[in-house]
Amino acid sequence: MTTQEFFEALQRAHVEGSARISAAATPLELTDVRNALIGRKNGSLSQLMRELPSLPEADRREAGARANSARVAIEEELETRKVSLDADTPPQPTLDLSMPGRQSWRGAKHPVTLIIEEIEGIFRDIGFTIALGPEAELEWYNFGALNFPADHPAMDMHDTLYLGKEVLLRTHTSPVQVRTLQSYPPPIRILAPGNVYRRDFFDASHAPMFSQIEGLAVDEGVSFVDLKATLSYFANRLFGKTKTRFRPSYFPFTEPSAEMDVECQLCSGRGCSGCKGTGWMEILGSGMVHPAVLQSAGVDAERYTGWAFGMGPGRMAMLRYGIPNIRLLYDSDVRFLEQFAR
Ligand code: PHE
Repeated sequence: MTTQEFFEALQRAHVEGSARISAAATPLELTDVRNALIGRKNGSLSQLMRELPSLPEADRREAGARANSARVAIEEELETRKVSLDADTPPQPTLDLSMPGRQSWRGAKHPVTLIIEEIEGIFRDIGFTIALGPEAELEWYNFGALNFPADHPAMDMHDTLYLGKEVLLRTHTSPVQVRTLQSYPPPIRILAPGNVYRRDFFDASHAPMFSQIEGLAVDEGVSFVDLKATLSYFANRLFGKTKTRFRPSYFPFTEPSAEMDVECQLCSGRGCSGCKGTGWMEILGSGMVHPAVLQSAGVDAERYTGWAFGMGPGRMAMLRYGIPNIRLLYDSDVRFLEQFAR
């Protein structure tokens, strides 16, 4: 190749290159053009520059300089074209913003959990702590230590599920009274929530497993006044200002025993089908801890007295939220449960 031929080829490569650069319609096409012109291996300008060493020595310097400025010019044109193409080309969508989103669900606490937490809060405020006991319980803690005489008919009331000879599923949370009294010296003020089991058939107001909350206060000089005052205070905190009444009752482990009623929350005491026209709803069983219970737990019954209560939070939740059927608490129907999301 003569020097003249080199200059002509350089001129052609530049003119053609410029034309191809302006013709490139997309950034991708422009990349192809760049490779065809100044690609290291096959670019037309690169190939031409490989001819430089074969030119006559005297022309090489000038030929090199011209080739170089052609290359710089091409690079500038490529850059200018790239900027204008990028501005024209909308960004390729990697995300379809018109696609419907995935629905996310907010979880809710179960109404029985909500009421247990609320009841715990009220008793914590007045100095009670939480105590727990096993659901698979020894017969002795469930009955014997609680002053149920062997084969006493009161045990029938509980319709017990036995797991073995002396092991059963606890029928109430009262065994936690005995376990706590064995482990801690008075003064004691505890609240013991937990599940209990009875072989009751499953109907609108009975379930074979349900929860209870036990309460126990033991100290020197504790009387029925403490029981009445504390439980009335509790009822007023949970239901808002409401009337309460105590009726005599019987439990083997308390003497005297009393059931507490609150004014029917559905009809405000006027009488409705919910309270069977009485205007009252029973919410808990209670009484002064029987001295025999203190003794079986190893507590000095001459020195200490106490009171205890047991209530069903399921029942409290039904009253508090106006739930008509206990099954709703167990069926896990989201249409029911999501009403408690907050
Ligand atoms: N354990 C009793 C029941 O299940 C309730 C109760 C607890 C009564 C404590 C008096 C004192 O019915």
